[in-house]
Amino acid sequence: MESVSAAHLKKEFLDEKNKEADLGGGEKRIQAQHQKGKLTARERISVLLDEGSFEEIGKFVLHRSNDFGLDKEHYLSDGVVTGYGKISGRIVYLFAQDFTVFGGSLSETHAEKICKIMDLAMKNGAPVIGLNDSGGARIQEGVVSLAGYADIFYKNTLASGVVPQISAVMGPCAGGAVYSPAITDFILMVENTSYMFVTGPNVVKTVTHEEVTSEELGGAMTHASKSGVTHFVSANEVECLLSIKKLLSYIPQNCEDDAPRYPYSLADESRPALNQIIPESTNQPYDMREVIFELSDADSFLEVHQHFAENIVVGFARIAGRSIGIVANQPAVLAGVLDIHSSQKAARFVRFCDCFNVPLLVLEDVPGFLPGTDQEWNAIITNGAKLLYAFCEATVPRITVITRKAYGGAYDVMNSKHIGADMNFAWPSAEIAVMGASGAAEIIFKREIAQAENPQEKLQEKVKEYTEKFANPYRAAHRGYIDEVIYPEDTRKKLIRAFEMLENKVDVLPRKKHGNIPL
Ligand code: HXC
Repeated sequence: MESVSAAHLKKEFLDEKNKEADLGGGEKRIQAQHQKGKLTARERISVLLDEGSFEEIGKFVLHRSNDFGLDKEHYLSDGVVTGYGKISGRIVYLFAQDFTVFGGSLSETHAEKICKIMDLAMKNGAPVIGLNDSGGARIQEGVVSLAGYADIFYKNTLASGVVPQISAVMGPCAGGAVYSPAITDFILMVENTSYMFVTGPNVVKTVTHEEVTSEELGGAMTHASKSGVTHFVSANEVECLLSIKKLLSYIPQNCEDDAPRYPYSLADESRPALNQIIPESTNQPYDMREVIFELSDADSFLEVHQHFAENIVVGFARIAGRSIGIVANQPAVLAGVLDIHSSQKAARFVRFCDCFNVPLLVLEDVPGFLPGTDQEWNAIITNGAKLLYAFCEATVPRITVITRKAYGGAYDVMNSKHIGADMNFAWPSAEIAVMGASGAAEIIFKREIAQAENPQEKLQEKVKEYTEKFANPYRAAHRGYIDEVIYPEDTRKKLIRAFEMLENKVDVLPRKKHGNIPL
């Protein structure tokens, strides 16, 4: 005779429970999710991870609140699917919020589940991926839900620089909830279905009388181009999930590890196309991405922050199979000038690479910092200092190639020898000077030019004199500030050798609690 409690011993009992958990908030809500062009949490996980590799943790967790009708409504997993699996054979920990359960809202237990996998990721040194899709704090739970958020923020901060943290925002992410993704290393968003803001359009209207849609206020393109909050924007969810996989291929599992190395056999590494890139006139623009494409392994460049502060280009690439981070002035936009946003963008990227042992390549063509009241009043000084500080404290292998202009303070900031770069190359077209030749001549020969019979002729003469003396790489090379002046076509060959030479670089910063980067 069966005992009363025997039902739970039957296979069907566990099967039923698993089925129930897999359904989240139920068929109707799953349909509603699909109608919005969104996948469910479990579908997202199956796109993201290697087939069959997902192991779920906490599938039967239930919330423990009884207020406002919650005692009558329970869903297994409590609105977040958590666990671990593999991406290209490497372990990752992840959580995926399930919008079909209380709108993916964060309860006490939901937060505990996220914290649990973050703890495991930290102990085992593997990336954490968050797939966010949530109406924020579970309103019925009040302060315990806020406490749950704070627990996550705290763990995000402790994990920062230890394991890579990636946040995909695939639905709403509002209120204080935005601060977990903001602390992580990379944010990805999906056009038209995801948005992030501290206060939504209704509050904005009440407080500032401004009328704005969710998409305008905090949609993917807004954060990709205006605020720089998001690093990647995708047309749909599958594209977003594939971008996470790609991103991981450039970065190591943790701060003690090296990035994956891809097999590469050396071939003809000369790149004659680079000889034609610099235009005749020094004020003519060119696209630095063309230089990047020539220097990187085929199809290996992954641009980060593509739509934000386009006067600087940052991203990952591979050179002879090695993962590197590239920071490149972009002469095609605002002449490649450094300003507040480009300094912030590059500084954050440099710090990520340094945290996770990704060597840095800097491609330099910079006329200086952007002048003007807007920049000064919004603290170009503090923000430019961020980039300077980030390079100064970076201990990863660091190489610079000056393709054309390296003027003024920007010369120092852009990974100069003086602030710790390991190898500094310059093309013959490099102009390393305090400023452009005509500006310099106008200042230092002002009186002589004014008193000349033909001031214009005198100016040209002085510009020529200054150009010959300073607007070239040789003065700097005589001093050893430039290690080698190289033909553009040889640049890739030189970089392959130099990065190989620097492979075992060890450099340590003075002992300290932590630095005080100008924020
Ligand atoms: C509990 C929630 C919820 C929440 C949504 N739901 N948000 N339940 N707590 N925060 C539930 C709804 O009741 C509904 O349940 C289901 O999720 C889907 O919600 P809908 O409104 O039907 O969906 P949609 O029209 O797509 O709108 C989504 C939404 C909206 C824009 C997210 O639900 C919304 O505005 N929610 C409230 C957002 C909010 O103010 N959150 C608190 C922010 S403050 P049923 O049963 O019908 O399926 C915050 C503080 C964090 O988060 C602080 C950290 C420091």
